[in-house]
Amino acid sequence: MSPFLLTRTLPEDATDAALRADVLHGLGHLPKTLPPKWFYDALGSELFEKITELPEYYPTRAEREILLARAGEIAAASGARTLVELGSGSSDKTRHLLDAMADLHTYVPVDVSESALTQAGHALIAERPGLNVHALIADFTGGLTLPGTPGPRLVAFLGGTIGNLLPAERATFLASVRALLSPGDALLLGTDLVKDESVLVKAYDDAAGVTAEFNKNVLSVVDRELGADFDPAAFEHVALWDAEHEWIEMRLRSRIEQTVKIPALDLAVHFAQGEELRTEISAKFREDGVRGELAAAGFGLTHWWTDTEGRFALSLSKAA
Ligand code: SAH
Ligand code: AVI
Repeated sequence: MSPFLLTRTLPEDATDAALRADVLHGLGHLPKTLPPKWFYDALGSELFEKITELPEYYPTRAEREILLARAGEIAAASGARTLVELGSGSSDKTRHLLDAMADLHTYVPVDVSESALTQAGHALIAERPGLNVHALIADFTGGLTLPGTPGPRLVAFLGGTIGNLLPAERATFLASVRALLSPGDALLLGTDLVKDESVLVKAYDDAAGVTAEFNKNVLSVVDRELGADFDPAAFEHVALWDAEHEWIEMRLRSRIEQTVKIPALDLAVHFAQGEELRTEISAKFREDGVRGELAAAGFGLTHWWTDTEGRFALSLSKAA
């Protein structure tokens, strides 16, 4: 079996400190917010995988269609020997890329979810003799250091996860990715595209209620990690389209007036009836915007591919 390395680039207590800081800041200011990275404990990662199979949630299927059609071109254009994937999750779609990358030396999946990394890593090394997998438990927004594996490097950021960052966070993030790369290395970026509001809202408010469960899971994470007494049933899942910013917002709306205690922070958080807590934005993009954001970070877009229905785009850019 080929080697599987798992490196935690953050100490255990850094995660704890980051959650405390995010909860203190996010619930201590109005409007209340929590960053989406806290959705992804083991249950949250499983719920996300269920979302990808929902009839309403088209992005995963659309991106898979593009990867299946373009993996050979991506492999040839990048010539990559190291594939780094940010927010890799189950690495499921990535298999289409791995199939096409005959010269690949090492795959470096990066995720905050240890359970997702471990499951995906073990499955991959069993399936692919000769592939080195060096997984990193890390926050892709905070000072990544990559292993010294051979270049050229291709950084893949799939699924449209870049849309979960606010515009200013995206600019900082893209500049930090550029700083990890050498000229000629490449970035493969998945971006969901602006489309009809009803299609978008259904994708984030499915009939089976899986996205609602995923959204409320962030409250269970805060309960478990910080001893809080959030009752997820006392909140309602909300998904709405913000036409001005061109993003979907997921919120949790308090069904009642309530005060939630968070003992680890010595905090009591009051919610008025109907008050909303923003848990995620999921920005939708247009080609010019993506090209411009990439250029501002020092990337030159060379390829833009969409699925046949024009719902989702994959772009390939070179580090200038
Ligand atoms: N790339 C996969 C998974 C997308 S879900 C796909 O396209 O289907 C988003 C993934 O990003 C989850 O696995 C989550 O754990 C991870 N993630 C979210 N925020 C992160 C952060 N700040 N740093 C590292 N990983 C993060
Ligand atoms: C991971 N990310 C791209 C997903 C999205 O579509 O924004 C997370 C998600 N939120 C609700 N459904 C899926």
